[in-house]
Amino acid sequence: MFVNKYPDYHIYNLDKLTYAGNLENIADIENKSNYTFIKGDIADNTYIEKIFNEYNFDAVIHLAAESHVDRSITNPLEFVMTNVIGTVNLLQAANKTWLDKTNKLFYHVSTDEVYGSLEETGKFTEETAYDPHSPYSASKASSDHFVRAFFDTYKLPIVISNCSNNYGPNQFPEKLIPLFINNIQQNKNLPVYGNGLNVRDWLYVEDHVDAIDQIFHKGKLGETYNIGGNNELTNLELIDTLIKVVDKKLNRKEGSSKKLITFVEDRKGHDLRYAIDLTKINSELNWNPTLNFEKGLEKTVNWYLDNEKWLSNVTSGDYKDYYEKMYD
Ligand code: DAU
Repeated sequence: MFVNKYPDYHIYNLDKLTYAGNLENIADIENKSNYTFIKGDIADNTYIEKIFNEYNFDAVIHLAAESHVDRSITNPLEFVMTNVIGTVNLLQAANKTWLDKTNKLFYHVSTDEVYGSLEETGKFTEETAYDPHSPYSASKASSDHFVRAFFDTYKLPIVISNCSNNYGPNQFPEKLIPLFINNIQQNKNLPVYGNGLNVRDWLYVEDHVDAIDQIFHKGKLGETYNIGGNNELTNLELIDTLIKVVDKKLNRKEGSSKKLITFVEDRKGHDLRYAIDLTKINSELNWNPTLNFEKGLEKTVNWYLDNEKWLSNVTSGDYKDYYEKMYD
């Protein structure tokens, strides 16, 4: 989005291309003259210092992370390597190369999961104390603390945002929405963890990108902004709506895929509820989510069902082993 919207910026996209990274997702920008792709691992300190010296970046938008809670439960160390060590490597490289820190910015994109879990009421504000429960959220909480420590200690210009659950096209089908779209289409079971009453706040990915754009350009240094969709749903409510939309698109009898719902063992340490108070980002940056959930879901379902080849490419190979280990 930045590549097209800001032709005067040169965007360097650094990615390790792990299982969830897919250059097919950004094929439309690969030949743009203001865009360069760099394959690399943020956990590799020597390499990170080398590219910071070589390219002399003005700003960093740090989105690189291991992001899936279930994977963090089976392999926490991988999350420490990328999310914690990787973040500290980027901070150090920025701090070393930015001798003059004016007009520089290190923007860390993080998650609402750092705040832990809510009961039935209340919302996360930027003042909520950190209380992460999964290895994933613990690694993101740690990286947020490092980002703030670099602001306090070295005056590195930083900003942080903590966002709720994203959905939309191109999302790797380990996350609830694309996983279930794929399973409904293939008449496979829909594995609902626990009683399905956990609540998540869903935000369409383009609204998140727009919030990042606002925070990057107008956010105050040293500050944190929460981002959310104002769209809380229990997993069962979400799954019901999803089934309706997918059945309709597949010309199946409405609701017929409900029979696929299967209650399975709960996720370990499963957070009950996330909800975001949007007061700060709304009043300071005038940002609000724009896309209505039913429309966003319909767009998402249409995208997945119209892109079967994409889906079959990403669900072959390693994905099959992961799926079998997780669900079979
Ligand atoms: O809140 C923001 C976070 O949202 C991001 O920081 C994470 O990177 C992202 O993965 C997401 O975390 P969740 O754990 O909330 O997303 P996930 O899609 O894995 O699960 C959503 C809900 O659905 C959660 O309550 C667990 C449940 N679930 C998930 C899967 C994959 C199931 O019941 N069955 C499933 O098979």
